[in-house]
Amino acid sequence: MNMRVFRHVAELRSELNSQRREGKTIACVPTMGNLHAGHLQLIRLAREKADIVVATIFVNRLQFGLNEDWDQYPRTFESDCEKLDAESCDYLFSPDETEMYPNGMEGQTRVVSPTMTDVLCGASRPGHFEGVTTVVTKLFHIVEPDVAVFGLKDFQQLAIVKRMAADLCIGIDIIGAPVARDPDGLALSSRNTFITEEERPKANQLYQSLRWVTEQIERGQRDFRALESEAKIQIETAGFRLDYFSICNAGTLDLAVDDDKELAILGALFTAQARLIDNLTLSID
Ligand code: PAF
Repeated sequence: MNMRVFRHVAELRSELNSQRREGKTIACVPTMGNLHAGHLQLIRLAREKADIVVATIFVNRLQFGLNEDWDQYPRTFESDCEKLDAESCDYLFSPDETEMYPNGMEGQTRVVSPTMTDVLCGASRPGHFEGVTTVVTKLFHIVEPDVAVFGLKDFQQLAIVKRMAADLCIGIDIIGAPVARDPDGLALSSRNTFITEEERPKANQLYQSLRWVTEQIERGQRDFRALESEAKIQIETAGFRLDYFSICNAGTLDLAVDDDKELAILGALFTAQARLIDNLTLSID
């Protein structure tokens, strides 16, 4: 294996410092592991943007609620390493919890964004985005990349991270990579492992409804709330519990109003054992 794996902040820093001294640019791809084709697309994009690619794998307990799936989150370290190495990823940073939170998580200084964090996923996962902005800030300080790549499947996460970077004058170029999908449209996710065989044929319903709503808007339908209600019925009829389905202003994530031009349609549903999210964006004139 050519890729080098680092468990400790100090060693990674010293290696990256010597690369920087040689004039190399660095791209970072933060992940929680259980890598799929979508993650590997992020690595490829990172490779186009910088000389050195650093992937990170850390299942960040700070961003999971008490009743969420932190302990069940799939951990597939060996195969993740093989996949990253096959994509010519240069370095993997995979710390344990004491390395990331040496003073414990309780008293950890947090990065709190008051903007866009309480709606959509934030409404059903209180504290989630605080955990994300905190760990991403730490990873940014550890890796000090020129570029960081995140998946657009987590549209809200990307918007919040970009806003945080702007607010805190973090000079990293933050890039979103397109959602990778199965042939039937299901967005790739580490949590797809939890979809049962019985559920799988209908698990693309969220995508189907996102497509249907997009088409209605493209045809001139502007009653956004009626479209959301119809999508909810479609998803529930397919047998899933809906968390949310919202047509939003893509810039603010507020519910869209008539004269909004850039829209993001976002949804989340529950299967028996997982919570799946997806989104589509569109521009209207
Ligand atoms: O998107 C993820 O996998 C995580 O939220 C991230 C960005 C790696 C932070 O833990």
